[in-house]
Amino acid sequence: KILILDFGSQYTQLIARAVREANVYCEIIPYHKKFEADSSLKGIILSGSPFSVNEENAPSVDVAEFINKLPVLGICYGAQLTAKAFGGRVDKSNKREFGRAKLVKSKEDILLQNVVDHSQVWMSHSDSITQLPEGFELLATTDSIPIAAFRKHQNGSAKALYGIQFHPEVYHSTEGKKILHNFLVNICGCSQNWTPASFVQETVAQLKQQIGDAHVIMALSGGVDSTVAATLISKAIGSRLHGIFVNNGVLRKNEFEKVLETYKQLDLNVKGVDASKTFYDALAGKTDPEAKRKVIGKLFIDVFQEESQKLNYIRFLGQGTIYPDVIESISVHGPSVTIKSHHNVGGLPDTMHLSLIEPLRFLFKDEVRKVGLELGIPSDMINRHPFPGPGLAIRILGEVTEEKAKLLQDADDVYVKALKSHDLYNKVWQAGAILLPVKSVGVMGDERTYEYTVALRAVTSVDGMTADWAHLPYEFLAHVSNEIINNVRGINRVVYDISSKPPATIEWE
Ligand code: XMP
Repeated sequence: KILILDFGSQYTQLIARAVREANVYCEIIPYHKKFEADSSLKGIILSGSPFSVNEENAPSVDVAEFINKLPVLGICYGAQLTAKAFGGRVDKSNKREFGRAKLVKSKEDILLQNVVDHSQVWMSHSDSITQLPEGFELLATTDSIPIAAFRKHQNGSAKALYGIQFHPEVYHSTEGKKILHNFLVNICGCSQNWTPASFVQETVAQLKQQIGDAHVIMALSGGVDSTVAATLISKAIGSRLHGIFVNNGVLRKNEFEKVLETYKQLDLNVKGVDASKTFYDALAGKTDPEAKRKVIGKLFIDVFQEESQKLNYIRFLGQGTIYPDVIESISVHGPSVTIKSHHNVGGLPDTMHLSLIEPLRFLFKDEVRKVGLELGIPSDMINRHPFPGPGLAIRILGEVTEEKAKLLQDADDVYVKALKSHDLYNKVWQAGAILLPVKSVGVMGDERTYEYTVALRAVTSVDGMTADWAHLPYEFLAHVSNEIINNVRGINRVVYDISSKPPATIEWE
């Protein structure tokens, strides 16, 4: 494996994903965290950082000590830190260099082997290395900086040491993958055996050992993460996994039945609990979005606990937690560490005294999908849009009632089916219909109608943090509008949401 020491760069996770894409396993740890240099560890990558190496209290590690044990690659800040540590110079550039540059090779080396000369690389830095330490060799420059890549001349038992000013991990560095491959395979000697199949095999074996003959309970949502996690656990312990899938009344149309059917096909031991009436009762009179979220979260826990009490021999709680939720991140407001904690099922109480089983704890979302496909989970489920825990309740503005839920389920179903049949579903990141608390006048045949309005939302995004409204074709929108108004009794008007995030959010509540 490879360790990535994080100095707080926004690109650190991209480095990890690029390494994993080369089928090499890696982990991200805060730069100051101690680690074991055991035989499985093949190399170290130093990340970028928002800090300057010349600042007082700039985050730092002892690079000289590392190279007694392992090959090291410094990227951006990591390269500057390396240069400075061995007596080189790093100065503030006149202007911040951001964007594309052309990499000009000055010397042949394994790191840049097979990399085309003048290839495009992505820069993002305000300091530059102006002088290399003694015993270091220049490997490449660009038009604007004299030192874009370097290596330390190898002597004695010290391992290879490289630094690059640009970011090989970002898409815009066209030869970046090749450079990382050269470091991982040709310099560190990693074998490229981190694949979905090997992950499944190793994880199932580990789970068998960890769980022994005990039983595991787990809440499933029909989403990718919980389904993949449950399938792995089930492969290890079979029906000693007790899945609970709750119908909270605000799932999509027929979703409860369809998802249970898929679980059955996957041979998962999952109990469907239809608690929709209880949820509708609890939601009555609630109009504030946060209040609705709380009601649903709390009731969900109540239902789940009630079910788990029936199985009093359970020792473990399965969860679909993924890597981005658990990476310890470096705060840019100072080299302190904040740990994000996130529970997919909304924080089950500690009073349950269950130990956690989180088989996806070290996977990125795209890896979860690949593992899911490897496990034979239908691609429909693997490629499904994100869907919020409180479901349609936060897409029914104001009070949620059973009637409104049915109305929105019907409209949403028409919309999602049309997206799929028009080959647009996989081109947007998330889509759904919103039931507005507005009635307006319409005319149908000879009759005046006074009915609800539905808003359609579709966005493109990478991670949901920012999003652009999807420019769906007019013809498609016209088709969906017609279908909804003609087929869903109670809706006589359809509008399309053309707001981006920020300042709007994806959900309306
Ligand atoms: P917003 O509306 O904040 O949504 O732009 C960003 C992403 O988060 C989802 N979302 C939620 N997911 N519980 C969830 O599990 C919630 O309360 C919740 N609110 C928003 C939203 O669907 C989108 O994918």
